[in-house]
Order: sequence, then structure tokens, then C-alpha cells
Amino acid sequence: MPSLDPTDWRDLRRLGHRMLDDMFDHLAGQAEGPVWRKMPAALRAELQTPLPRGPGDAAAAYERFRRLVLPYATGNLHPAFMGWVHGGGTAIGMLAELLAGGLNANLGGRDHAPIEVERQVIGWAAEMLGFPATAAGVLVTGTSMANLIGVLTARTHRLGAGVRRSGLGGVRLAAYTSAGAHGCIPRAMEIAGIGREALRMVPCDADGRMRLDALADAVAADRRAGLSPFLAVGTAGTVDIGAVDDLSALGAFCRDAGLWFHVDAAFGAIAMLAPRLRGLLRGIGQADSVGFDFHKWAQVPYDAGCFVTRSAAPLLATFAGDAAYLRRDSRGLAGGGTWPCDLGPDLSRGFRALKVWLTLMVHGADAIGAAVQQSCDLAQRLAMRIDDTPELERLAPVALNIVCFRYCGAATGLDALNAAIVADLQEDGIAAPSTTVLEGRLAIRAAIVNHRTRPEDVDRLVEGVLARGRARSALAA
Ligand SMILES: Cc1ncc(COP(=O)(O)O)c(C=O)c1O
Repeated sequence: MPSLDPTDWRDLRRLGHRMLDDMFDHLAGQAEGPVWRKMPAALRAELQTPLPRGPGDAAAAYERFRRLVLPYATGNLHPAFMGWVHGGGTAIGMLAELLAGGLNANLGGRDHAPIEVERQVIGWAAEMLGFPATAAGVLVTGTSMANLIGVLTARTHRLGAGVRRSGLGGVRLAAYTSAGAHGCIPRAMEIAGIGREALRMVPCDADGRMRLDALADAVAADRRAGLSPFLAVGTAGTVDIGAVDDLSALGAFCRDAGLWFHVDAAFGAIAMLAPRLRGLLRGIGQADSVGFDFHKWAQVPYDAGCFVTRSAAPLLATFAGDAAYLRRDSRGLAGGGTWPCDLGPDLSRGFRALKVWLTLMVHGADAIGAAVQQSCDLAQRLAMRIDDTPELERLAPVALNIVCFRYCGAATGLDALNAAIVADLQEDGIAAPSTTVLEGRLAIRAAIVNHRTRPEDVDRLVEGVLARGRARSALAA
């Protein structure tokens, strides 16, 4: 009879132990290798094969992984990776992925322990954010998806569950977020069928925080024009510069104006675990909903996003279904209380909760908070070094862990020069910052997220930028 289990477990067991040892070595030796290396074209080509029809040897397949995949990953495990907003992962998180794969649980619903683990994780998230005990939520791929859930839930809250049957019915909804908001917010408006033109990008103050006077003006203007304002999205940690909106004032405004108040706290939420930073997020606990990631600053391996709201009711109104083949029962496997598939768009869902649960149980929330504080302290160190170096110019204030700056030791062509410096650093394997554009100027952007990053990595970034900036400027002169 066909089965995909091994006939003799001994060989696979031996290979599995080797894989585990190799990955422990890989994690332990991170600081020694380059941050990133480009995958050679020949190896990319080697990866492409026709669909394998017959059986293959597991050890040979693993060798292909070691040769073709392992050396050419993103680099975000490395202490000098500072691009975009990438978490560094942990060894216990890696082991959790192994256990979750072994269980192969489907967390869409039914009555089993893995769902209880996810409920516990949502409970911890609510506790961290200062949400009430009635809070509900789901783990999702990432904050992009959590923010989409926020938009859909706010829409249903405004229009009632009938919107699921008949659509917007000509109601002209309007939503508000800051000009510094992440691109997934307009994308969520597109996907929700409301359209990105219904999202007002409210101007920010000099610190990158949404201007509440401008928000109030925009809402009033839309009301006068016959639109129906339904949602404001605050940001706790903007993607470009890490600015945190005044969540307390924003929440009060939303309550008065009858708007759903969602917070995109993709990485910032985890600053709630750092006592010296928590005050920056004051008011997050009053939000109607929050989207954030465990895979960024909480160092849980990808992917682990989270959506939390104050009670299950608005999520059930937005997502719950009644398909006969998913009928619930009071007993048996079809029991077990509210199923996660009724709280979000996914039906089949993996056991993401396990890696969050194990990471928090093994390291503890305080250690995660200490890593967050360390990132912010390193960002301040980097800012100071930049401010002390005439050839470098800081391009934004540093509220949390993101520092934007540029090499300015050349008379012209600074955008192209700084883009080239970043690519040089990445290709030389020295450090991996990314770039963004602030007020029309290309910035080198260092987002310090990884718990392994140390002062010497920050110093290496500064020295690397200076050396490449000087060399390129001298060549051009
Ligand atoms: C502020 C903010 N919002 C949303 C996102 C999107 O999160 P994800 O990549 O987990 O979907 C990011 C990603 O960096 C972000 O920084």
C-alpha cells in the first residue's frame, strides 16, 4: 500500500539529527560570515529542474539545500543586517517550527490543543497591549494582513454585516491615516473594494506624527461633502523613520468622531515590553484594534503577524460563515468554542502560535523587551556618530530603532552615490542597510531590529559608509 512514511526510520532519523546540528552551527556562527551573498546565476539555474517524478534520496536532496539555498538566504540572522524591518529569529523559534511541522495541525477550527495555544498567545498579546480580557484575535501572515482585517472589520462595524451580502451600496466611506503610513494601508483599502482614493493621507508634524488638526479638518471636510468617515489608522513606528503617532489623542478624537481606531503597530507594539519605551505608545490599549508582528521585534521566525480587537463580536460579524461542511457541534471534534476561521479570512491555518508561545515561555517577555531597548540604544549610538561626523547627515529624528542618514561628502549626485554605497555594503557582505526617500532625498536607512546586533556592527556600518563614500567621491573627482 502506498505511504510516504519511511520503511526504515533509522536513515531519516540520522539525517534529521544532522540537519538539526547543521542549523545550530549555522545560527551560532552567524557573526562570522558575510551578511549577504548574491546567489550566482549558475546555481540559480541549477535550482530549476522539471517536476521530479520518481523518488529521490533524502540525503542528496539535503545536500542540494546546503549547497544551493543555505548560503544565499536573506541575511537577516546576521547582526549587521539592518535593512527594511526584519527580525533575527531564535533557536527556540526554529525548534518550534520543527515541532509544528511534526504535528501538522490545522488551526482553522475544531477542538484541539493547538487552538488553545493560539488563544493563549492572543491573550498574551492583549495583556501586552493593555486590552480587556474579552479581547479576541488571530495570528496571520503579517501586519499587512492584520491591517486588512482592521479595514474590513471597521467597514462592517460602520455598515453592518449586510455589507458582506450587498457591498458598499453606494455609501462613500472615508478613512484616514498619516502620510508616513505603510503602503499596506492603501493596499488594504484597494483589496477591501473601498478604493485607495477613499483614504486620506494626513500630513505629519516635524517628528513624523500625524497632525491631529489636519485630521480633524479632513474629517470635517468629508462630512460636509456627504462622505461617511469610518476609520482612522494610527501608526506606532512608521516604516521610514519609526515615528509614533499620539495614540492617546488620536483615540480620543476617534471616540468623539465615531471612527473605528485601528493601530498599525507592526514592529512598535513590542516596545510595550520595554519599560523605558512603553510611554511612547500610551493610548494603544484604547484602540479598537491593533495589527502587529511577532516576526519583527519579538524575534519569532517568519511568519507571525497578529490582529487583536477588544471582543470577538466585530470579527464574527465580518468573517463568520455557516457552511454545512464546517458545521459546529457541542461535542466531538467539531466542538471547541469559536473557531479561528470565523475570526479572519483564512480557513486552513498552520500552527504559527507554537513558535510565539515557545519563544515567550523560554525567553520571557522581559528579555524580548530588553532586546527592543538595546535596538533603540544602538540607534541612538548610530545617530550620535552621524551627528559627530561632518561627512554624514542625519535626515530624520530617531524615536525608536530607525536611523536615516546619508553620506554628503560629495558636491553633487548624492542620491546615486548613497544608493551605490548601500549596494556596495550589501555586496561586500559588510552590512545590510536599505534605502528610502525622505523629502525627495535618498536616505540610507538602518532599522536595528536583530537581538544579535552590537555596537561594533553599528560602528562597522558607519566606517563602511565613510570608506565607500570617500572612495566613490575620489573616483568621480
Ligand atoms: C509600519 C509597518 N506596517 C506594516 C508593515 C507590513 O508588515 P508585514 O511585512 O508583516 O506584512 C510593516 C513592515 O515593515 C511596517 O513597518
